[in-house]
Amino acid sequence: MALGVNQPESLYLPDLAEITQVEQVTEMEKFFHVHLKSGDKLGHKPGQFVNVSAFGAGEAPFSVSSSPTMEDGFELCIRNAGNVTSALHKLEPGAIIGVRGPFGNGFPLDMIRGRDILFVAGGLGLVPARSLINYVLDNRDDHGKVTILYSCKNPSELLFKDELARWEKRDDVNYQVTVDNPDGEWDRHVGVITTLFSKITFDPERTVAVVVGPPVMYRFVALECIQRGIQENHIVMSLERHMKCGVGKCGHCQINSKCVCQDGPVFTLTQLRTMPEGGVIRR
Ligand SMILES: Cc1cc2nc3c(=O)[nH]c(=O)nc-3n(C[C@H](O)[C@H](O)[C@H](O)COP(=O)(O)OP(=O)(O)OC[C@H]3O[C@@H](n4cnc5c(N)ncnc54)[C@H](O)[C@@H]3O)c2cc1C
Ligand code: FES
Repeated sequence: MALGVNQPESLYLPDLAEITQVEQVTEMEKFFHVHLKSGDKLGHKPGQFVNVSAFGAGEAPFSVSSSPTMEDGFELCIRNAGNVTSALHKLEPGAIIGVRGPFGNGFPLDMIRGRDILFVAGGLGLVPARSLINYVLDNRDDHGKVTILYSCKNPSELLFKDELARWEKRDDVNYQVTVDNPDGEWDRHVGVITTLFSKITFDPERTVAVVVGPPVMYRFVALECIQRGIQENHIVMSLERHMKCGVGKCGHCQINSKCVCQDGPVFTLTQLRTMPEGGVIRR
């Protein structure tokens, strides 16, 4: 059985899992399809993360990128950033890794059900956002309008290109993409992600904004959402903090009285206002 937060005695013990598919998606990121050796489902919610160990190298947290509606295993997308991630990047299909979790609160599914959803994903933020996007698209009748804004620094950094093309083709999704630095072939929007707001309309009373991306993005996207009338408790953001245990014990991820690994990583803007040490959003 997958090790979940409801099994405190085994919180530090990884489950063994097999990598069944590896794909280089950009120069820096690899996609991994993973199955727990037990045959169990991971049992995650969109927005939760797992702690993955590359044996002999260490352990690091990664968002689960697949939707829980995917029957067959789960997916990760990992940037090669240092010791653990470079060890994971060397692994081939058939390799065994350790998995602890799923951890964290995940996105508020009850809040978004029945509402219009505005996804704002910058860079690697698409990795956790994709879990919720695909969950919403697999339960399309339960949700209102779906708008997806996605940005990267360069066109070469765009993730999941086939999937982006499928979202764009759908009549029931408004997908907009932008890059900061176009190359010679880029014929789409250019500018930071907030410049996409001028291309969309939404009813702020009905809309929940789901924002995931680099810290620098949060303040500007929050301001744009507020100016367009979205309530602060309907602006939902997923934070990334340095983490170790993942289960609220070590304090590495603490902001004020909150442990990002357990109380988060997903917070509303209203909650973030009460966490000034996080430095994420200040008035
Ligand atoms: C909840 C959560 C979800 C995450 N999801 C993903 C994901 O889906 N895909 C992905 O590629 N990465 C994700 N990360 C970031 C990932 O955990 C780090 O890149 C990883 O821990 C780096 O480990 P390393 O041993 O390879 O790097 P190290 O050798 O430890 O460090 C390399 C560099 O990365 C910096 N670094 C290490 N950890 C973090 C961190 N948590 N945040 C920012 N910088 C860090 C270090 O300061 C150092 O400069 C997530 C982090 C968190 C907390
Ligand atoms: S990572 Fe240890 S308390 Fe959050």
